[in-house]
Amino acid sequence: MGIAILGTGSALPEKILTNFDLEKMVDTTDEWIRKRTGMRERHIGEKETVASLAATACKRALENAGRTADSVDLIIVATCTTEMLLPCAACRVQNMLGAEHAIAFDINAACGGFLFALNTAHHYIASGACKNALIVGSEVLSEIIDWTDRGTCVLFGDGSGAVYVEDTGTEDGSGITGMSQGSNGMAGSMLYCRGRVVKGETEPEINSEDLLVHMNGGEVFKFAVRQVPVCIKKALDMAGLKPEDIDLYILHQANKRIIESIAKSLKTDIERFPMNIEKTGNTSSASIPILLDELNREGRIKKGQRIMLSGFGAGMTFGACAMVW
Ligand code: COA
Repeated sequence: MGIAILGTGSALPEKILTNFDLEKMVDTTDEWIRKRTGMRERHIGEKETVASLAATACKRALENAGRTADSVDLIIVATCTTEMLLPCAACRVQNMLGAEHAIAFDINAACGGFLFALNTAHHYIASGACKNALIVGSEVLSEIIDWTDRGTCVLFGDGSGAVYVEDTGTEDGSGITGMSQGSNGMAGSMLYCRGRVVKGETEPEINSEDLLVHMNGGEVFKFAVRQVPVCIKKALDMAGLKPEDIDLYILHQANKRIIESIAKSLKTDIERFPMNIEKTGNTSSASIPILLDELNREGRIKKGQRIMLSGFGAGMTFGACAMVW
């Protein structure tokens, strides 16, 4: 059995917000943002929603895989910014695609969500419950960002990325070879967003700040550079590989310096860590599949190459997935 990604797709909102635009909104500079994060611009959803972006990304992934919506068994949307509590984004995507035979549900593991969704789909397929799945990371983070807080508002962007995964039934060695994931709820206060009024917690009066993202950037940075290499090594062990055996590390695009530090910790050449953070910012659960789609469409991923996906996010959550393309 080979459970492999056969197609990728992505969707980014039309509106672009540059560092120079942010200079006019908060006390920051293009130079500070570029040096501290590697970002120049990000996309911001205006008319686009989590579900509409996800549906577009899914259509592109299906086209890329040469499959149609009516044959999809499972749709999982990883998101922490869905515009409606009910129904979930995945069911709305199912409706938009006309994927009437699919099981559809959401996962919220914040920026780690795509890997949690991929892992879940892998188990569904490996158990024989499903033959294929559409896995999507989709976010409109701009809705929950505090646009007066320079420590967070410069970091995030909106977008969606999807992959179509299938049990290929072949034994050619392609597909997922190792997965690892974990959570650390004890560190949850590093990055949180209450998101709504909660009885007993946000009383007596809701403060609009309660609805927005709060982050201790320095602590999140330290968490990521410590935890992600450990998680990657677990997935490598499962696949029987060493860090240098991986051709491409496709990591969550949170900060260029975090990625550089992870590369150093794994003693691996930074050239193997492609990035698109400059143009997208941190799109949370969407960042890994958006980058994967970009590389796939540019022909930069070759058949037989060994790929490692890895990310982390609020929770805190973290995950890694090794595969042969
Ligand atoms: N523009 C200008 N100055 C800024 C700024 C901005 N956008 N944001 C913060 N600063 C200031 C701080 O106020 C601080 O000033 P002070 O020294 O006068 O107090 C100074 O820059 C240094 O701040 P610091 O927080 O130490 O910077 P940093 O090097 O840690 O970079 C982050 C800040 C947020 C970029 C970095 O910590 C980071 O990327 N953390 C991880 C966040 C993340 O990935 N979150 C998502 C997880 S999925």
